[in-house]
Amino acid sequence: MKIIQTKSYDEMSEKACELILEQVQKSEAPVLGLATGSTPEGLYQQLIDQYKAGNVSFKNATTFNLDEYAGLAADDPNSYKYYMNDKLFNHIDLPAERAFVPRGDAENREKECRDYEALIADAGHVDLQVLGLGLNGHIGFNEPGTPLESRTHVVDLDESTRKANARFFPSIEDVPAQALTMGIGTIMESGQIVMLVSGEKKADAVKQLVNGEVTADMPASILQRHENVILIGDERALSKL
Ligand code: GLP
Repeated sequence: MKIIQTKSYDEMSEKACELILEQVQKSEAPVLGLATGSTPEGLYQQLIDQYKAGNVSFKNATTFNLDEYAGLAADDPNSYKYYMNDKLFNHIDLPAERAFVPRGDAENREKECRDYEALIADAGHVDLQVLGLGLNGHIGFNEPGTPLESRTHVVDLDESTRKANARFFPSIEDVPAQALTMGIGTIMESGQIVMLVSGEKKADAVKQLVNGEVTADMPASILQRHENVILIGDERALSKL
């Protein structure tokens, strides 16, 4: 695992932006895996700035988001599809029909998960996957205990995850109890993984991710077994390494 320590959140976002630009520029049909949460917001703003400056085009790209809350439709302001439209998709030339996010409001969620896997397979594979890190070590919405070989599936969210994400909702009762997420096995098939971490509150999880044992109890620890992972973090997030 390559580790890049940055002085600030902004520098973390810049470094991640450089890697994505490189990927998009070198491939005729780049496939990007995208994440939500607060951490990648700066990265998305940088990508928009680079696009507006004429330095990059996403017209040949395809994107797959990691996850979505069960029951939330694309126009629900708390859905991850809404977040992606708002923070990135509406501001760049990525074709809407190639910006995939699992459909949280699908009638049959299990089928939606199978279809999502098929879409990723049709696209070849994800060239570069952006990841954030849950406080309990989750990646996507793969909570502790998720089998390391899992594919896209429906998950019950941990109480701690619902609490951590409640800040985006009117109250914790409004945070869905379930989500659809790419599996750990799905994520591990990406050509390159760029994990972004920022802030002191992530420091313990980062320590386990880098130096702990590889275990389903700490889903992100599996990244130790991927041969092309770049961890980009600010000083505070990396302070316990
Ligand atoms: C959510 C998302 C994850 C994300 C995590 C961390 O649970 N499903 O993909 O990595 O939160 O979020 P943040 O970046 O806000 O700390």
